[in-house]
This record gives sequence, structure tokens and C-alpha cells, in this order.
Amino acid sequence: MQPFISRDISLIEHFARDIIDGLSKENNKKWIKPRYLYDELGSSLFERICEQPEYYPFRTETGILKRYGQRIFKFMDDDVSVVELGSGNSVKTRILLSSLLEKQKHVFYLPIDVSQEILLRTTHDLNREFTRLNTFGIAADYSEGIREACNISAKNGTMPERKFVLFLGSTIGNFEYQEAIEFLTSLRASMREGDFLLLGFDLQKDVKLLEDAYNDRLGFTAAFNLNLLSRINRELGGEFRETDFRHLAFYNTEYHRIEMNLISKTTHEVHVNRLGRSFSFLKNERIHTENSYKFTLEKMKDIVERSGFQIAENFLDHNNLYCVGLMFANH
Ligand code: TRP
Repeated sequence: MQPFISRDISLIEHFARDIIDGLSKENNKKWIKPRYLYDELGSSLFERICEQPEYYPFRTETGILKRYGQRIFKFMDDDVSVVELGSGNSVKTRILLSSLLEKQKHVFYLPIDVSQEILLRTTHDLNREFTRLNTFGIAADYSEGIREACNISAKNGTMPERKFVLFLGSTIGNFEYQEAIEFLTSLRASMREGDFLLLGFDLQKDVKLLEDAYNDRLGFTAAFNLNLLSRINRELGGEFRETDFRHLAFYNTEYHRIEMNLISKTTHEVHVNRLGRSFSFLKNERIHTENSYKFTLEKMKDIVERSGFQIAENFLDHNNLYCVGLMFANH
């Protein structure tokens, strides 16, 4: 079997269509889907964000996985196959895979990510590093990736049917409330009763701590956000100048979310050659690039229960900054 599967996710036509849709909108309605942040350069910049002292979600989640890894697997009687949504470089997953390999003779790991380059590298490294591990990378968006993961496990006779799905990094917070429920419901539909989901999500807290996490001092978050414009230049022949925009991330206390934006410093037009058209920006107009919702335990309980899951246990750090919830698929 191929150790790597790539779907046509990087289809330039999709990117082109989404950019036209998002940037043709009127004043202050412009937006770009967050998944486009993660091209090869964007994914490397995101790795740097995770190393910054201000970005507590990464290190806190890692700490929780180190502390409770063994305990998480105590809930599982049968052997499991591991599927991960948005695996990136799988650094955190290594912790779980090592714990699981103490318990299981062999582990099948199916990471799904939109960044093909990072996935290819990770798949290769993991298969060399762990001898009793089989990694099959799937370069696709989440829904396509899950479908592909189900196909692979149905075709492969030796892979345990029982699934352990990882959705870490607070990515669930990048969905709207209804979208989160729809997404988890469709994920649940691809799982069997008794399968597990490990969900990492960020908790509501002091505004200063939150805003600092999305405005690191060295500017990696700003660079990550602005890279979206350079990606348009690279892939669609755009003429954006990163210096004409600035990164703005702030906490919206009413909606309990960090809002990420790119703000135009002047009124100007930008031509995108391969789209054969220009987009206009007013001074201080924003392009909305991402929301990152912050939850209470009650709110997340509501979301997962509406989606057909039940909480087995919530694991938190000592300061109650972040939560990793172990859920199982309900009947
Ligand atoms: N899932 C991450 C989060 O919500 C994504 C993220 C972190 C992000 N920093 C960012 C997205 C900056 C856009 C811009 O924390």
C-alpha cells in the first residue's frame, strides 16, 4: 500500500474561486478561508508560533498529553487505529503514539492535513522513527480525508476497526457554533459506537493572556497571517505588498473569540494577474482571516453531546488554561 495519498485539494481553481468570492465583498465584509493560511511556508510559520512563549495553547496541550497520555489509553480495551485531523508536523502526536506503542504491538496512524509537503516529511520521519508504526499520510481537507481514512481501514484487513480520532490544537475553535456541531456530527457518522475522539480546545480566560497569544512579540503570528497575501502573489500572480497591510488580532468579549484580520493601511487597488481582475481596499478596511473561539467546559459539553458524543473525561492543566477532552461515540 502507498504510504501517502494525495487528493486534489491544492486545486488552484478552488483557491482562485475562494479568493474572488472573499475579496469581492463590500467594505468590511471581505474574508478568506483559514485553511489557505497553511501552505508550506504558512505551516512552517505556524510551527514557529507554537515555539513562542506567548502562544500558551501549544505548550499547555503538549503538557496535558504528556501528563495524561497513559490514562487516556486506559479507557480503551481494544486495539485502536489512530486518525488525526490537521496533523501538521505531528509533534504532539508522537507523545501519544509512544504511549500507545507500550500497550499495542502495532499501530496504524492516518494523519490528514492540507499541507502536502509537511505531511510527506512527517510520514517519512515517523515510519523511520517507530518500527512498529505504519503511517499513511492523507493530503486532503477534513471531510475528504475522513472518507479516505475509512476506505483505507475498510480495505486493510489487519488494521483495527476501533478508531481513535485526534482533533487537537484548538482547531474546533476556528468553526462557528453551528458549523462545529455539523462538523462533529458528520465525523460521528464516520465512526462506530464506542470509537474515541480526543478534542483539544481553548478555555475562556484573562483577555491580556489571550491577546498576547495572537500578537507574539517577535511577529510570527503577523507573518503567518500576512503570508496569505504572499500566497496569492505566488500562486495567482497577485501584486499585494505585505507592507500595505497590518495584522490585527483582538478578543471579542461578547462572542468569546479572538478575531484575526489583515487591515489595509491605505485606500488602494491590487491586481491579481491570473484572475484577470483587481480588488479595492479602503483605508482601515479589514480582511477577516480567522476566528478562534474560547469555550467553557459547559459550552463544549453542549456541542459534543449535540453531535453524538459523550465525555469520558476532560483533562486540564493546573491553571485551567486549556482542555483536552476524551469523548466516545454514543449510540
Ligand atoms: N487553531 C489555532 C488557534 O485558534 C490557529 C491559530 C493560531 C491562528 N494563531 C493564529 C490562525 C494566527 C490565524 C492566525 O489558536
